[in-house]
Amino acid sequence: MLAVYAERFAPDDPLSALVVGERPVPSVPEGWAAVTVRAAALNHHDLWTLRGVGIKAEALPMILGCDAAGVDEDGNEVVVHAVIGDPGAADDETLDPRRAILSERHQGTFAETVVVPRRNLVPKPASMSFEEAACLPSAWLTAYRMLFTRGRLAPGQTVLVQGAGGGVATALVVLARAAGLRVLATSRDEAKRQRALELGAHEVYAAGERLPVKVDAVMETVGRATWSHSIRSLRPGGAIVISGTTSGAQPDDAELTRIFYKQLQVVGSTMGTRHELAALVTMLDATGARPLVDRVLPLTEARTGFEAMAGGELFGKVVFTL
Ligand SMILES: NC(=O)c1ccc[n+]([C@@H]2O[C@H](COP(=O)([O-])OP(=O)(O)OC[C@H]3O[C@@H](n4cnc5c(N)ncnc54)[C@H](OP(=O)(O)O)[C@@H]3O)[C@@H](O)[C@H]2O)c1
Repeated sequence: MLAVYAERFAPDDPLSALVVGERPVPSVPEGWAAVTVRAAALNHHDLWTLRGVGIKAEALPMILGCDAAGVDEDGNEVVVHAVIGDPGAADDETLDPRRAILSERHQGTFAETVVVPRRNLVPKPASMSFEEAACLPSAWLTAYRMLFTRGRLAPGQTVLVQGAGGGVATALVVLARAAGLRVLATSRDEAKRQRALELGAHEVYAAGERLPVKVDAVMETVGRATWSHSIRSLRPGGAIVISGTTSGAQPDDAELTRIFYKQLQVVGSTMGTRHELAALVTMLDATGARPLVDRVLPLTEARTGFEAMAGGELFGKVVFTL
């Protein structure tokens, strides 16, 4: 079958390890299901995989992609939950230390067929296109859990979203606005700041710009480049919820003094549960809010999408169709 995969790791030139070619259809273990992929979305995770982060060499060659929407063997339209945990683990598979997300130990979604545990299939509402639904399982689910489960934000509170152009960040802006939060966002790029306003942010600021108010929570995925600004932007007792470190994991100043003196909370967040994915789908169906798609490309042109992400050119998600 047609697939987009990593044949080796290339830490400094990840796109050199990207292959668009043929791979065997994965076998279907008992209790698992084969999904005919109709759309699959790109994440920064796919670039990390090409660099060799989060995956062992013996897993190669590995089909990339965490996110997909498609049709199961019974003809049902489904969204594919990307976190695969022990079926015996407690309800929150993100806390299972042996969990993996698609394309780490199990072949990913950038292919004609993806095979996952049957419990990982969430019904896709008819109101949502395959392209929109394909955006949800990683970036949008991560944003949902950051805001509502880990951040415990409630309508009327104020949230700052760093790096507004990113896949997770655009999801944070849309979901926070739909949930009745006051939304501030930063971006390095003026055009992206304007787009963030159109998307639902109430106020936008240049990266690192001092805010006129202190916020209840900051949603952080940029890491090193924005960490200090995030800490300084919080009200006493506020929370920084972090799920990514795109610009690096080692801040110049961890701001430890401010963290204890202002009694801040630093909260980690990773992906989400299948129940949260189902709740996210219901939220979008009910509110009419939709994922922001930067561009849709046929899977055969996946390299163009990877190049745009590596170059930081995106505003929203890249979706591949089959
Ligand atoms: N823990 C999880 O479960 C989970 C799930 C999904 C993603 N993630 C992680 O979250 C991060 C974001 O993922 P994504 O798919 O949203 O990536 P993305 O679409 O590539 O977005 C990254 C954004 O970060 C900002 N940025 C990058 N470098 C920067 C710098 N030097 N200074 C300031 N801002 C910078 C940019 O925003 P502007 O251009 O607007 O400034 C960019 O749009 C990744 O590291 C990813 O691995 C984690």
